[in-house]
Amino acid sequence: MEQLLNQIAAYKSEIEATHISDAKQAEEFRIKWLGTKGIVKAVMGEMKNVAPEKKKEAGQVLNEFKLFVEGKFETFKSATEQQQNGNANRIDLSLPGDEVITGSRHPVTLMRNRIVSIFQRLGFAVAEGPEIEDDWHNFGALNLPEHHPARDMQDTFYVQQNPDWVLRTHTSSVQIREMEKGKLPIRMLMPGRVYRNETVSARSHCFFHQVEGLYIDENVSFADLKQTLYFFVKEMYGKDVKVRFRPSYFPFTEPSAEMDVSCFICGGSGCNICKKTGWVEILGCGMVHPNVLSNCKIDPNKYTGFAFGMGIERPAMLKYGIKDIRLFSENDVRFLKQFSSSI
Ligand code: DAH
Repeated sequence: MEQLLNQIAAYKSEIEATHISDAKQAEEFRIKWLGTKGIVKAVMGEMKNVAPEKKKEAGQVLNEFKLFVEGKFETFKSATEQQQNGNANRIDLSLPGDEVITGSRHPVTLMRNRIVSIFQRLGFAVAEGPEIEDDWHNFGALNLPEHHPARDMQDTFYVQQNPDWVLRTHTSSVQIREMEKGKLPIRMLMPGRVYRNETVSARSHCFFHQVEGLYIDENVSFADLKQTLYFFVKEMYGKDVKVRFRPSYFPFTEPSAEMDVSCFICGGSGCNICKKTGWVEILGCGMVHPNVLSNCKIDPNKYTGFAFGMGIERPAMLKYGIKDIRLFSENDVRFLKQFSSSI
């Protein structure tokens, strides 16, 4: 019995001194100690040689030894498993990161956002409308009945299958859609793409973008229109910019005007951009014609309003020094990636 106890003590210290470093060694440990021909089994076999009165005590010692070995094996096993998982998940912080290729915003989008954000500060909300319009929204309701000579001011694309449909020639059609909703007052900004049947060249394209503005309430006057546009121009082109209104004609406004700003390239002294005039035309505007209000079931005796419309490409071309309008729609990445959002 004593011999058996000594033997077990020796095995225990051997096990205590064992270190394993991988799964293979853990398995070798299992086979050596716990396998069918392993040491634990052999030691258990010693029970038959123990004297009957010592059997109980020996049984306990052997059992305890077996549990000890099994516990040790479990510890080794989970340590090697953790090691393996760790290897699989290990992040090598010294590796260079993947390059993140970020896109850049289109210059037309940048300019539109800039315009919209200025008017948003005055409480204008944004609305959009369809690019394929019916005759009524693009012309009729805007005080351009059939055969009205002013229809020829804009060369129109008609949809072949249905000549009542056009590709909208201006964003003024969205004014009508907003007014028809019957919710007053209206303070809206309407950006979007428009189409005109024009020869494509460096200076003009058959599609481009506009931003329309509309403000309808009681007692809205031309002074409100001027103040709103002054604010816009100063935010857009700086405090020192000069503004002038020229009388003009649009069927949907009365009176109508076009607004020029002092040339922001030469400061007004005359250059190629302003064609030596010192002024650059930036938008059309006016007081909404009473017929337009009536067409949208708004009482012109109670409500008045102003509207304005401006192109987006032209100010973007001036801002970025882009010489050819066709570049905007050619999708050449070398062109597109040059513009940052800080305008
Ligand atoms: N729709 C006009 C155009 O495309 C621009 C315009 C002028 C819009 C005067 C307006 C306005 O709302 O009041 O040329």
